[in-house]
Amino acid sequence: MIKTSRTKIKTSDRHPSKNLVKSRFLQTLRGETTDRPAIWMMRQAGRYLPEYQKVRSQFTNFMELCQTPEATTELALQPLKRYGFDAAILFSDILTIPYALDMGLNFLPNQGPKIASPIQAPSDVYALPFDEVVEKCDFVYRAVSHLAAELHDTPMLGFAGSPWTLACYMIQGQGASLFPKAKQFAYEHPIATQELIHQLSITTAHYLAEQAKAGADVLFIIDTWGGILDASRYQRYVLEALKIMQHELTHFHGICKPILFYSKGLRLHHQEDLQCIGYQGGLAVDWSHAIGDMQSAFSKHAISGNLDPAILLAGPTTTQYHTQMMLESAQPGSPFIASLGHGILPETPTDSVHAFIDTVKSFYA
Ligand code: CP3
Repeated sequence: MIKTSRTKIKTSDRHPSKNLVKSRFLQTLRGETTDRPAIWMMRQAGRYLPEYQKVRSQFTNFMELCQTPEATTELALQPLKRYGFDAAILFSDILTIPYALDMGLNFLPNQGPKIASPIQAPSDVYALPFDEVVEKCDFVYRAVSHLAAELHDTPMLGFAGSPWTLACYMIQGQGASLFPKAKQFAYEHPIATQELIHQLSITTAHYLAEQAKAGADVLFIIDTWGGILDASRYQRYVLEALKIMQHELTHFHGICKPILFYSKGLRLHHQEDLQCIGYQGGLAVDWSHAIGDMQSAFSKHAISGNLDPAILLAGPTTTQYHTQMMLESAQPGSPFIASLGHGILPETPTDSVHAFIDTVKSFYA
């Protein structure tokens, strides 16, 4: 019998007095009209910023940085100071959960994450200490409340990786383009995989609920790797997991904050399944479809996206041109948040970010 993490833990409920009534980001999620789209970027704090590199150089270990609230707050505020984005994102990582599961997570320089003890057999799934994870991640809730105290009229996105995306790293042990080991495990051990996804869904919902209680205004669920699955496994491991998380958040933890769901490789026919994110929920999408087509397909939800981050590498002029194209494709009056279709790349010139922002602002002036 696998252990679960459904026991409620004690954290200090901190609800800083923020004035978010006029937040474009939250208004858009509610389907309200705003003067222009809210602007933000996935991975907006990070390696493309020289001021990030400066803070980063003070830590040898990335997880140690994630456990230092003064540093995580400073890093989350850096892109707001430089660009005036309309939302802040907690500075942390999706791999905090495997870290708290004691799988030996390390971030090696220029190699990305490496897990020393990945899942290799079904028995490894059943041995994972899920009941301890949410409490062990208390450094994340401390980072949320520390950041919340600094944000006055800017909403904060808390976040977590989707269960399938976490499972990819937990089985593969490191990043990969198609995660062949993770997929092999799913085909070979469907029962253990289902159990893993279920445990991760319950744990992640609890983890997000603690972030909400600590002051996160939006719960951002990041599914980077669902697109590599076939339709039946996408349904089971991505969409059903999302439904469990939404249900747990609302009915078990009593949290009613909006969910923003990022799916790389979202297929257009999942309107029904995605109703579960609720009327205040939003979808963050990649660049594989024009924004207007996504808005038609998912007309009940705000859409965030979707410029290909590689465009920014080509410089400000190219960025301006393609941002303009993206905005022309958006349906006037449909709730829309201007963003990228995936995380900003480390080599991105900062001028391209300015070009993106200026183009959005002048388009709606
Ligand atoms: O502003 C922000 O969004 C920063 C917070 C943030 C980080 N990671 C910080 C980070 C967020 C939202 C993430 C999400 C994340 N992490 C994802 C999902 C989004 C995506 O890009 O697909 C994934 C798959 C990870 C796992 C991860 N963490 C990888 C693959 C790596 C190494 C390479 C990379 O992508 O940056 C990390 C390390 C990491 N997480 C860094 C940062 C700033 C770089 C660490 C360093 O400076 O050494």
